[in-house]
Amino acid sequence: MSLLDKYIVTEHEVLVIGAGGAGLRAAIESSAHGAKTAVICKSLLGKAHTVMAEGGVAAAMGNVDDRDNWEVHFSDTMRGGGYLNNQVMAEHHAREAPARVRELEAWGAVFDRTKDGKILQRNFGGHRYPRLAHVGDRTGLEMIRTLQDHGVHQGLDVYMEMTVVSLLTSGGRVIGAMGYDRERGRMRVWRAGAVVLATGGIGKAYRITSNSWEYTGDGQSLAYHAGAELMDMEFVQFHPTGMVWPPSVRGLLVTEGVRGEGGVLRNSEGRRFMFDEIPELYKNQVAKDEEEGWRYVCGDKNAQRPPELLTRDHVARCINREIKEGRGSPHGGVFLDIGWIKERIPNAQAHIKKKLPSMYHQFMQLAGVDITTEAMEVGPTTHYVMGGVRVCGDTQMSSVPGLFAAGEVAAGLHGANRLGGNSLSDLLVFGQRAGEHAAKFAKSAKSDAIDSQQLEAETKRALEPFERPEGENPYAIQSDLQNSMQELVGIVRTQKEMEQALDVIGKLKVRSARAGISGHREYNPGWHTALDLRNLLTVSEAITRSALERKESRGAQFRDDYPSRSDECSKFNIVTRKGADGSMQLEHRPLSPLRADLAAIVEKMK
Ligand code: FUM
Repeated sequence: MSLLDKYIVTEHEVLVIGAGGAGLRAAIESSAHGAKTAVICKSLLGKAHTVMAEGGVAAAMGNVDDRDNWEVHFSDTMRGGGYLNNQVMAEHHAREAPARVRELEAWGAVFDRTKDGKILQRNFGGHRYPRLAHVGDRTGLEMIRTLQDHGVHQGLDVYMEMTVVSLLTSGGRVIGAMGYDRERGRMRVWRAGAVVLATGGIGKAYRITSNSWEYTGDGQSLAYHAGAELMDMEFVQFHPTGMVWPPSVRGLLVTEGVRGEGGVLRNSEGRRFMFDEIPELYKNQVAKDEEEGWRYVCGDKNAQRPPELLTRDHVARCINREIKEGRGSPHGGVFLDIGWIKERIPNAQAHIKKKLPSMYHQFMQLAGVDITTEAMEVGPTTHYVMGGVRVCGDTQMSSVPGLFAAGEVAAGLHGANRLGGNSLSDLLVFGQRAGEHAAKFAKSAKSDAIDSQQLEAETKRALEPFERPEGENPYAIQSDLQNSMQELVGIVRTQKEMEQALDVIGKLKVRSARAGISGHREYNPGWHTALDLRNLLTVSEAITRSALERKESRGAQFRDDYPSRSDECSKFNIVTRKGADGSMQLEHRPLSPLRADLAAIVEKMK
């Protein structure tokens, strides 16, 4: 009997790991290029963090303000990202997003409309003009629905509730993946000419997060262990507004769309504290007073944005400051008020319910709060990681041949901080590119045979927790990690605390090697958690080491001990598994100077 007889083996030209927006868009494209394509979902098809991008998809279509175009979008994205963005990706993204949105519409997505029938666009933080095409506050959901329908009709093979444990390599190239199905615990091998990672983020490394249980840094960790480079992992986005009460839903997203529709932030003294501190870069782009901010929301082209629509990193830090300085709400947040617009518009209650239907139901059902008349309590929540697998900006291939990455798992587009809504356009633009190039790669390269020693070693590792039924509970280790990352590598960072975090991570690695589980392989959540630990610990270490190394504050990284931006730090942090003992190594890569025409655009927009 050959080793492979112990596995369920399937063969595909392109294997996409992750079935959110990026994975589905990549799979659709790969399949359109004639490659036999499969998608692996960690949970059920359609359940993806994409749905948490509620407020809209950013694309410079200029439907609401005709001053918008790809150049403005490009420069907003670069400025928001602290100019640490991959310029090639930022250019592709800004140029191609409108076509990707229109394509989605042609595939059946039903966007809200302007009075003259165009796709409606709303304001969001850091975007100069109303740019977010949306479907109420359910944009991500509509996108997933559309991509799912389109993909399934294209004949994709879909594997649901499967966990990928390891990427298979040969001669330095990726040739497939191995893992198991959660239902029966049967081991599986997917052979493939190319693999696209589209596994999303790392939110579950933190205690308070908008991410659900699947987001344990799997793709970043799979890539890292296969030899790929991870870039700028320190840049973790804390979305300013997550629910803070009741405790069971702490961290659940409250869309930025609330602020885009006129919602304001107040502290316990009733003051709009966002007016207190305006970053230098945005000084001439923020309303002088509440009146002007409201005129901007209503579409007055001569008005500047309210300070609630500054970038997420800044808004999250201001909220954090109010809470820390004792001006927070009863449950440890601040107040987000949209109901106040009744002072300005007739039928405000109906308007809010129409524009923000999910938020209305979310607060009504989960917190007993009627957002049309009462303020919400909100606070920062871990939402997104800007860093990730380093990829080529044109093809999305990583430093490991045959391994591609798209969407949140890939680094580059967003630099040090992502603008809201750029995640949905990111996954459309780069899902499409990754799918196309993965298909071309798979068709041009001959796949090697699977290395049976590698397969056996990975299988042994996956099953090891069963050999320690008396071992430590993996949930306890996960929870200790989440608490440490939350407290020590959160919104405001210091050298001392991050060194402490590294020490904790080292100890948790030792404990995770002793984690044990009992029971059988069928739907055993303890087993899944034991295997998630390696991924969570890998990404947590990468975040912490990179954050320690970056001795400055830029975008989502705020260091209390280095509060300013430093030109010396204008470089990428790269981590790889290079040490002789397989340890994590960090090196710097220089930024290439902005191409002359792109530099001119940035200059013009200033
Ligand atoms: O606030 C939101 O609706 C989230 C959007 C995003 O993360 O892009």
